[in-house]
Amino acid sequence: SAAEKGGYDYFMLKEIAEQPKAVADTLLGRIDGAGSLTLDEVRIPANVLREVDKVVIVACGTAFHAGLIAKYAIEHWTRLPCEVELASEFRYRDPILDQQTLVVAISQSGETMDTLMALRHAREQGAHVLAICNTNGSTIPRESDAVLYTHAGPEVAVASTKAFLTQLVACYLVALYLGQVRGTKWADEIRAVVRDLSSVSGAVDRVLETMEPVRALARSLAEKNTVLFLGRHVGYPVALEGALKLKELAYMHAEGFAAGELKHGPIALIEDDLPVVVVVPSPRGRSVLHDKIVSNIQEIRARGARTIVIAEEGDEAVAPYADHLIRIPVTPTLLQPLVATVPLQVFACELATARGNEVDQPRNLAKSVTVE
Ligand code: AGP
Repeated sequence: SAAEKGGYDYFMLKEIAEQPKAVADTLLGRIDGAGSLTLDEVRIPANVLREVDKVVIVACGTAFHAGLIAKYAIEHWTRLPCEVELASEFRYRDPILDQQTLVVAISQSGETMDTLMALRHAREQGAHVLAICNTNGSTIPRESDAVLYTHAGPEVAVASTKAFLTQLVACYLVALYLGQVRGTKWADEIRAVVRDLSSVSGAVDRVLETMEPVRALARSLAEKNTVLFLGRHVGYPVALEGALKLKELAYMHAEGFAAGELKHGPIALIEDDLPVVVVVPSPRGRSVLHDKIVSNIQEIRARGARTIVIAEEGDEAVAPYADHLIRIPVTPTLLQPLVATVPLQVFACELATARGNEVDQPRNLAKSVTVE
């Protein structure tokens, strides 16, 4: 009913709008006055976590994209190797797992059969399993050694939005917590990242206030057949997520690429007026990547692409090559997906509406996939 949707036409719109609160709720009560993370739910003893020599993330769909982003944070903050694998592929390749492996299973519903089978396999091999989940008491957390709940509130729309952002927050917390326990991250650093994470909620709010041009752009592309997405570093999984949203909602051919791979094949796809969304890393810090992406944008535009550029406020270098420029607030590099994904959600939702598709219940899809 309309009341259930809080006055929005679709649950997806409501859930997109709830993201600032969802992100804040996932952080709530998880840091103490001294700047230490208190993840009491993570009932895996500190001595076990100190012995861990590898992290393996398993998940499907959007949760898998959260895992791909988590890898950057985990490896950077803990110096532990981290693999990310589609849950449906995991146990069929005889993965190397033992008591020193920490497996992180990410699932909104907690009922995804592929993810459940992957974690069962991991536990049989002696690995410790931590679930990141949004649904209290669901099967995946029940079968895991521990769970960190995302506190996004119920997500009804088939297309995942607020669950994704909160999965990212939970992944950052797990990465910091591992760093805290293992002594690679100190209280002041943890406090600084948590402060950045807390301000992201406001940043997501600001993004949501500036979405009207994105909706207009989406409507103008309703007759297109293909949209490509490019990103680099943590922007690459964001590109994959943008493409997945468009597939499931707009039923369009959409693909995400690592921008550095363009020249190894995908650039052959570029033709006149093809919309290409580019997620641009911050020009600060990792400016090498920024410069490389700017030249990618030039290359595809020279070949006729219609460039839709998502870039930080104040990044002027991209402006001359952007047919459409979508601004996002300045964030630390690793946290940029929390703001960069939002315009892509809005874009896909509006395109679906413009094409007359059912937003909350896309064809052929179920909210949780409980078969293998
Ligand atoms: C996301 O928009 C999809 N509907 C889908 O990819 C989903 O993320 C995937 O099925 C995993 O679901 P889960 O998080 O409930 O395990």
